[in-house]
Amino acid sequence: MIDLRSDTVTRPSAAMRRAMAEAEVGDDVLDGDPTTRRLETRIAELLGTEDALFFPSGTQANQTGIALVTRPGTELLVEANAHLVHYEMAGVAALSGVQIRPIPTPAGLLTPELVTGVLRPPSPHVPKPSALAIENTHNAAGGRVLDAAAVDAVMAAARAAGLPVHVDGARLWNAAAAVHVPPARLCRGAETVMVSLSKGLGCPVGSCLGVRRDARERAWEIRKRLGGGMRQSGILAAAALYALDHNLTRIGDDHANATRLAELVSDHPAIRPSTPETNIVMLDLTRERDTAERVIPALAAEGVRVVPFGAKRLRAVTHLDVTRADVERAAAIIRKTLG
Ligand SMILES: Cc1ncc(COP(=O)(O)O)c(C=O)c1O
Repeated sequence: MIDLRSDTVTRPSAAMRRAMAEAEVGDDVLDGDPTTRRLETRIAELLGTEDALFFPSGTQANQTGIALVTRPGTELLVEANAHLVHYEMAGVAALSGVQIRPIPTPAGLLTPELVTGVLRPPSPHVPKPSALAIENTHNAAGGRVLDAAAVDAVMAAARAAGLPVHVDGARLWNAAAAVHVPPARLCRGAETVMVSLSKGLGCPVGSCLGVRRDARERAWEIRKRLGGGMRQSGILAAAALYALDHNLTRIGDDHANATRLAELVSDHPAIRPSTPETNIVMLDLTRERDTAERVIPALAAEGVRVVPFGAKRLRAVTHLDVTRADVERAAAIIRKTLG
């Protein structure tokens, strides 16, 4: 089975499991876990933030970031198809008392004009915005990237409007690799930054939130309230440190594999692939009779797993556990299955 459903399906390698087994641990809630602290310091360096905190999931780290940068009864400006809008169980409303102000974009990419375009003239009759969130890469848009100039421009628009920025960087590693800059370059000016370790890097669990030094205590408090305080978390942090040492530099291979997959199906009349910028390929089914609901089980029966992203759209994601040969075989199976 070639599993292209997500870059979260990777299994920890034998070497990663060894690093986990040998991790030095403490009690991170009680008085600190040394391996977790090493990871947080390393992540803060990579993101260019003053500090960082380890979380069990990207959702919890995102929600903590949003709680830090917003106030109840205000609006969070965010691209209309962001993960924060569709896949976090209305968390910003439930947990932070914040309303989402979706910013429609043609292809998932925010611009300063689109951001300023949703700002209402101040009035006692309308809600105030309190923050902006940027998703980079943008999952629903097919892993598209805001490069350094685009990020700077959006940050400047937010700054001019007095809005702090949260970066949902679940796949920030991919964005940075795609535009050949260090991850910190895509976070310049952000107040909080979430990065995942369980996507693309091959870890079983984990995300981090980059924060300012003076926000750490409050971030800790929110994480504890959400049930995210972990004890011997060094076992998980060790996997992340292993991944940063061994898997970060190869992430561009996933992008090349995604491009290869798209190329290999591009001349098939029943399918229109996106042009991948990173590790996600969207495959649109062009024939009337083909639907995601019908095609996905047919592909799975032949050995390729993908997920639906709309009635006639499939998403395929390349990752650490699929090789170039797997991708070539997947393309052949897709072609054969679609006839
Ligand atoms: C863009 C984006 N943000 C946040 C998350 C949430 O991460 P997690 O699944 O670890 O909660 C995801 C997960 O798919 C994501 O794609």
